[in-house]
Amino acid sequence: MINKFCFLLVFTLLIVQNISSTELKELKVNYKISPIGLDAHLPTFSWIIKSDLYDVEQFAYRIYVSDHINFDKTNIVWNSNKILSNNTYGIKYDGLKLKSNQKYYWKLEVWLNHDNQKPIRNESNWVTGFLSSNDWHSKWITQSETDNKQRKIPYFRKRFQILKKIKNARLYISSKGMYECKINNKRTGDGYFTPGWTSYDNRIQYQVYDVKKDLIKNNVISISVGHGWYRGNLVWKDKQDHYGSRQSIIAQLMIDYEDGTSDIMTTDKSWKYGLGPIAFSEIYHGEVYDARLEDKKWFDYSCSSAGLKNVIIDKETDFLLKGTENELVRKQEEFKPKLIKTSAGENILDFGQNLVGWVEFTTNNTKSNDTIVIKHAEILDKHGNFYTENLRSAKQTNTYITNGNPDKVYHPHFTFQGFRYALIEGLEKVDPNQFTAVALYSDMVETGSFETSNELVNQLQKNIVWSQKGNFIDIPTDCPQRDERLGWTGDAQVFFNTASFNMDVRLFFKKWLKDLNFEQKKDGAVPYIIPNVLGSDAYASAGWADAATIIPWNHYLKYGDKQILTQQYQSMKNWVNYIVNHSDDYLWQDGFHFGDWLFYRPEDDNDGMSAVTDKYLIAQCFFARSTQILLESAKVLEIKEDITYYKSLLENVKNAFHEEYLTSNGMLVSNTQTAYVLALQFDLIPEKLIDNVVNRLTKNIKKYNTHLTTGFLGTPYLNSVLSKYGKDDIAIDLLLQESYPSWLYPVKKGATTIWERWDGIKPDGSTQTPNMNSYNHYAYGAIGEWMYANILGLKTKKEHPGYSEFIINPLVSKAFSMAKGSYKSPNGIIDIEWYNSSKLYDLKIEVPVNSKAEIVLPYKSSYFFSINKEIKQFNPYENKINQQKQISFRLGSGRYNIKINKL
Ligand code: BGC
Repeated sequence: MINKFCFLLVFTLLIVQNISSTELKELKVNYKISPIGLDAHLPTFSWIIKSDLYDVEQFAYRIYVSDHINFDKTNIVWNSNKILSNNTYGIKYDGLKLKSNQKYYWKLEVWLNHDNQKPIRNESNWVTGFLSSNDWHSKWITQSETDNKQRKIPYFRKRFQILKKIKNARLYISSKGMYECKINNKRTGDGYFTPGWTSYDNRIQYQVYDVKKDLIKNNVISISVGHGWYRGNLVWKDKQDHYGSRQSIIAQLMIDYEDGTSDIMTTDKSWKYGLGPIAFSEIYHGEVYDARLEDKKWFDYSCSSAGLKNVIIDKETDFLLKGTENELVRKQEEFKPKLIKTSAGENILDFGQNLVGWVEFTTNNTKSNDTIVIKHAEILDKHGNFYTENLRSAKQTNTYITNGNPDKVYHPHFTFQGFRYALIEGLEKVDPNQFTAVALYSDMVETGSFETSNELVNQLQKNIVWSQKGNFIDIPTDCPQRDERLGWTGDAQVFFNTASFNMDVRLFFKKWLKDLNFEQKKDGAVPYIIPNVLGSDAYASAGWADAATIIPWNHYLKYGDKQILTQQYQSMKNWVNYIVNHSDDYLWQDGFHFGDWLFYRPEDDNDGMSAVTDKYLIAQCFFARSTQILLESAKVLEIKEDITYYKSLLENVKNAFHEEYLTSNGMLVSNTQTAYVLALQFDLIPEKLIDNVVNRLTKNIKKYNTHLTTGFLGTPYLNSVLSKYGKDDIAIDLLLQESYPSWLYPVKKGATTIWERWDGIKPDGSTQTPNMNSYNHYAYGAIGEWMYANILGLKTKKEHPGYSEFIINPLVSKAFSMAKGSYKSPNGIIDIEWYNSSKLYDLKIEVPVNSKAEIVLPYKSSYFFSINKEIKQFNPYENKINQQKQISFRLGSGRYNIKINKL
């Protein structure tokens, strides 16, 4: 049958070309559009080609860089020449030495396979930051020791004049603590919680703002600094001053005038400081804002600094200042509330979504001295009362004292809250229109969308995305509400693949991984959290520390740029060598491990149903996985000696696993879902035992009446393993399971984010133990990757990182009649939409330029395949039918509609 078709049809696609448009879009430098303050000596260039033609590929490119808007010969600092390549990203600058604080312009020419005579063109620009520490002439300035000790929030102030016409003006700024800068009473930039959280002992990021428009003749610049992560309360022990005992700032204004001269204004002894309305501000506890202390003359240039104090030059100046790499935290969605009056007479606002940010409100209050208090909570208890016990010591309370001025819009400054509900105190009448919840998170582009015919699954996807938003505040955190909010490595590791479907997390993780490098110990041990504020013995837990290998590798597969492996290779190697040094005969049975954190364990467990997986068995699985990743990375980077060594190490680690943990009949020492899942996922089961092991896994799932029992480490791979071994049906049953423990159980309970525990709210409506019960914890949301990869059907190919070639193998199951979604890959948007009925399977896809898709679809001899009319000849039977009775065929870029008539 197949051969007959092959005989009749030609193998290639013959395309009808319509009037078309092809353009170069998203020209980026270091993966940012026109960045300001980029401190890379050798930045990289990237772009996307959009076209409505079929089978488009880049054939060659050329880049010119100039230090002037005109590309005169004398201004050109780099001409890449015409390079025959289809590469569209990671292209390194290779021209004259770049100057600091300089605007560069770049022109891009691209030749396509469709027309290699006429190139298409576009252009963009960027501004370099300080490329040498000598560019900083400013001093770190701070408040007096007494004010420091009293933990005041200082407002630093300086008056200055500008008497010439400005060509450009850029403000370089950073702080120890969180800063907010205002020039002439206008807030500088739209980022919050700046300068962000890095491994402060090693580096602090600075930001650069274009402030030309904000400057006038007589100027006042003011910078307030909260304690932030630098010296605020951090970690549940309510410890303070983790990095230092005083907030300070550094700022430098670089002005170029039209007449060719320039000026530099620095932070130095001439600055003054005073106190202002922010009386208290702590990340966990919230803010006290006393509007009565607002100084109306603060931004009045003519108002002298009399009464203000002299700043102190901060002696602790040897901090490495680096330009910001990732996206700043910005204001995002807004929500209006419904008012709930409780039986206790309380006014509670319900914003309908558990989110992270703050409540912004209009004071509407003309009286002075009124105290308005806003408390925040994620849930109401089963009696409808405001529930804050799970916040532990975090107060999450903002207080505003009125000054008689109406209509002031207030939100706090150096703090954020995790909440869906707000309890309002101090207002006689609460008008919900006065209040708006504003979500804040790192401003990453949304790259994914996902929807199906099942509303509960759609809500699950929304919950995953909202837990990502709530926990991607400059670093990936475990939770955003209680006295924790830390960069737990295990959580980030399990969630990376899902996160990178939903949003462009490339820079977010690149920056965080650099901090991982800084925080890794000399012996290779990786801390539980990054940046590490837990101390010197919080290191090297299996599945957590392996973030050091797993995230860079997954990042590489997702984005295709080897540079991440180059950046992380030494760290990856140090981590694997750490394990080697802590194992005997290739068995890692040493040290503390969190294990399969929060696995299923019933309360009264007489039947021994608790799904305990031996922690060293887990450690051995991750030993193998990290070694495997290191080996793969060594191959990509062509490090020959490492390839040989780690290949043999991997074999030894696997053999040790077999001898210690696996019976000859495929039983693992721990008969749990997590044990089988990890061993299968990480290729630890010999070929001949795979069927047995898969059977044991599926039996185990049945033993729990088709429920999962996995914790943080097993959950991300459970469904992937089932799908990989042909058990999609069980994977779907697990996904659609509505009773505890399952993904949909919290959804049925009204969750709008992912919970830390499978039963954060128990079936009887009571809550889990409050000291560990976050309602916004993304780890279990790691199922998102499987949903994109198996329901939509979008899968990566290891040999083609960055989706230059990918697989579309959509689900065909009665459980769903439809799924649609997209993923914005490095080459552009991949769109998938399918409908399934008893008669027709209808698949619409878009393959971006420079990419190839392998389409894998079900096959029966009675099926009739067709494709949109632009494709004149189409042979879906090009390749062999595989064991699962599927056919596959390859498509180049373009939009396709493939139909299977199930005759
Ligand atoms: C965090 C987790 C973290 C864990 C370590 C918890 O307190 O919230 O998400 O991974 O500790 O097991």
